[in-house]
Amino acid sequence: MKPHITVVIKPTLFCNTDCKHCYHIPEERKDLRIDLSKIEKIMKMASEEYQTAWFIWHGGEPMTLPMSFYKDVIALEEKCFGKDSFRYGNTINTNGTLLNKRFMAYCREKKINIGISYEGPYNNVLRECDVEKTLNTLSAKDNKYAVSATISKDTASKQKEIYEFFRDKATSVSLSPVIPAGCGRCYVPDNDEFIKGSIEAFDSWLKDKTVRVPLMPFYLYIMNYLGEPVPSDCAHTSCLTKWICMYPDGSLYPCAKACPKEFCMGNIDSISSIADAFQSDGFRNILLGSVKRREKCASCDIFKFCNGGCSVDACYERGLEENGGDSCRAYKEIFAHVVSEIQFILDNKPDMDEYNAFVKEAIVNKLVNPKTVSQ
Ligand SMILES: C[S@@+](CC[C@H](N)C(=O)[O-])C[C@H]1O[C@@H](n2cnc3c(N)ncnc32)[C@H](O)[C@@H]1O
Ligand code: SF4
Ligand code: SF4
Repeated sequence: MKPHITVVIKPTLFCNTDCKHCYHIPEERKDLRIDLSKIEKIMKMASEEYQTAWFIWHGGEPMTLPMSFYKDVIALEEKCFGKDSFRYGNTINTNGTLLNKRFMAYCREKKINIGISYEGPYNNVLRECDVEKTLNTLSAKDNKYAVSATISKDTASKQKEIYEFFRDKATSVSLSPVIPAGCGRCYVPDNDEFIKGSIEAFDSWLKDKTVRVPLMPFYLYIMNYLGEPVPSDCAHTSCLTKWICMYPDGSLYPCAKACPKEFCMGNIDSISSIADAFQSDGFRNILLGSVKRREKCASCDIFKFCNGGCSVDACYERGLEENGGDSCRAYKEIFAHVVSEIQFILDNKPDMDEYNAFVKEAIVNKLVNPKTVSQ
């Protein structure tokens, strides 16, 4: 058995809102719902081929399906993996507008993680929905979720403010830029402004002694640099063959982001194992192109941390086989800044009380147990 797979399921591409930047264009966001038989098939295959599987419910807006759908899904997982098994888990990625106490209580009971796409004080820049009102109706007990903030041309310089908004709510937040796919093309941030804004947010977090949450993806950059055995952020791991995404019609893709059709790995109805999907022409197309790009990355000083970046981002920037696009330059500059701060601490051993608890713990562990010195 292979160790682990992340299975992204888009149970519908339909959405109850119309974000300006969405990589799924309005014509794609149709009300076709996935058949449970397709879900059962991919779950069964995942349970037979992998030791563990993580299911991410994505879309479209996955919460436009009723709670009964998620009850059916959990029943299928229990059937395939065993009840109370530690072999699987779930995250629902939602715009948050349809959450309620009842659903949150169910997620708590079934240990389903909730990720909400939300930009705090700047939510209405890209989104038309008022999620704040919905979130305020949740009780403190149900108020457990992580936030993913998508940074656009209008919020590139507001990242510190967005981070501080969520810090004050003790909510973990991840900052990522709009990519030039689908409707996103007109909302991509200026790369220099994005880099500057990310560094400002990181600096604010780094020395924030009150903070109770990690700031993503920078915390993962630190752990990656320190050589800790944690997964890196998704854009900087070798994700090919470790992720599979199923659309409502059963078509399969290597990534949750809107992928070009030439990367389609077939349909769940016509394969008999997940391994079959990774033998398809679509997978071969993304793999060969990514290998060519990574060959060009071989001389890059930070290749071992970056792994050549995200293939889908590269595709929408300068082409699958080319590095040097916005995401490459942003990673180089932001990672260099993060690393310079961490290396300063390792070299000079300043008073760690000046730093936030996450950095303090990571560095102290490193100094006490310097098993892998990554520099
Ligand atoms: C496509 S949505 C699907 C799940 C759900 N409807 C939601 O909004 O969370 C998943 C995430 O993709 C992000 N996204 C959509 N279009 C994007 C783009 N062009 N560039 C970067 N992120 C994008 C959204 O902001 C959201 O955080
Ligand atoms: S980003 Fe999510 S909430 Fe916004 S339009 Fe796309 S699918 Fe809907
Ligand atoms: S930073 Fe750019 S050049 Fe370096 S490994 Fe990453 S994608 Fe390749």
